[in-house]
Amino acid sequence: MESGKENYLKILNVVGARPNFMKMAPIIKAMNRYPDEIEHLLVHTGQHYDEQMSRAFFDDLGMPKPDIDLGVGSGSHAEQTGQVMVKFEQVCLEEKPDLVIVVGDVNSTMACTITAKKLGIRVAHVEAGLRSRDMTMPEEINRLCTDVLCDYLFTTDPGADENLRAEGVADEKIIFVGNVMIDTLLQHKAMAEKLTTGRDMGLEAGEYAGLTLHWPSNVDDREILNGIFEALISIAEQLPIVFPIHPRTRKMMEVFGLTHYLKLREDGMGILVTEPLGYLEFLHLIMNARMVLTDSGGLQEETTVLGVPCITLRHNTERPITVEQGTNVVIGNDKQRILAAANDVLEGRVVGGHVPEKWDGKSAERIVEWLVGNA
Ligand code: UD1
Repeated sequence: MESGKENYLKILNVVGARPNFMKMAPIIKAMNRYPDEIEHLLVHTGQHYDEQMSRAFFDDLGMPKPDIDLGVGSGSHAEQTGQVMVKFEQVCLEEKPDLVIVVGDVNSTMACTITAKKLGIRVAHVEAGLRSRDMTMPEEINRLCTDVLCDYLFTTDPGADENLRAEGVADEKIIFVGNVMIDTLLQHKAMAEKLTTGRDMGLEAGEYAGLTLHWPSNVDDREILNGIFEALISIAEQLPIVFPIHPRTRKMMEVFGLTHYLKLREDGMGILVTEPLGYLEFLHLIMNARMVLTDSGGLQEETTVLGVPCITLRHNTERPITVEQGTNVVIGNDKQRILAAANDVLEGRVVGGHVPEKWDGKSAERIVEWLVGNA
């Protein structure tokens, strides 16, 4: 161990974008139980920086303030990745960690992995081995680059283990621990249940749909985005849709002149737009929704555990277990298919799912126990 003390690990935990925060929160909590074995610092790259995209999550999840904020912000993929690398390299040189932990598949995940490995620092990837096989997704490129470099690959399901093995990763690097995002969900479910967010918005439990949309392939093309909203408007004739809007999507809807879709009618039907919500308020809305329409990765997993039908507006998923075992259907972005999938839910043709193995709230504990014993 480079830190001088025997059996002592100095760890840099990295987060960058919204879906990273709920994955890292339980890992930090679990690490706090090992003060004699682990020293850890939290690095925020600043990929997401708006109050509602970043700080609100730290507050809701009881996460410590980042020890180091790289303040990188938005930019093209190359700009963002490059900026994170330049700034994170400096942090690694100053802090000299034994290990860097990255989560998920965002640009910050890949950028920090490459940087640390080139400095000879070990890296662990939490949520390794997921594959959509769709190289037009920036996240797929991030996943592949990250996994090929990492020393320890913590996986959410046996399918991810198989993907890694098929790519030639040695067995001893692959550790199936379950899903840390579900740790966070289970820790906060009771708290979220008590909120009145839905009622305050005039929504009855089970009488609305939840929507999130931010994937470039859905929102960066006017025709595709318009087609999706034609379908959504039609669903919203029967079931109001609540839509916490991602800044990227808001920007594109304004550019394409599609904001007329974002209206709740006087009879309570239509699309109710909100700013991006904090973790607890969002969880409250999702757990009480009749169905969720989304292009998010994490939400496919959360709805599976909550038993809420999920309609994924993408052509593929890196999380097939949510389809095989959970409540998810992956249907693309064609209007007729979206309407048919929503009708299946409305007419009761969708049966509840099964919670995958080790999605039990203890995944972060498994990761930290493993690191303390093996890293
Ligand atoms: C990123 C991740 C994606 C993840 C998503 C969750 C990559 C390649 N993509 O996508 O995998 O599902 O986060 O939200 O890492 N913006 C703001 N305020 C912010 C952050 C972003 O206004 O705090 C706007 C900016 O216009 C920015 C755009 O959103 O250019 C996109 O942000 P970016 O971080 O590049 O990607 P996301 O679409 O958020």
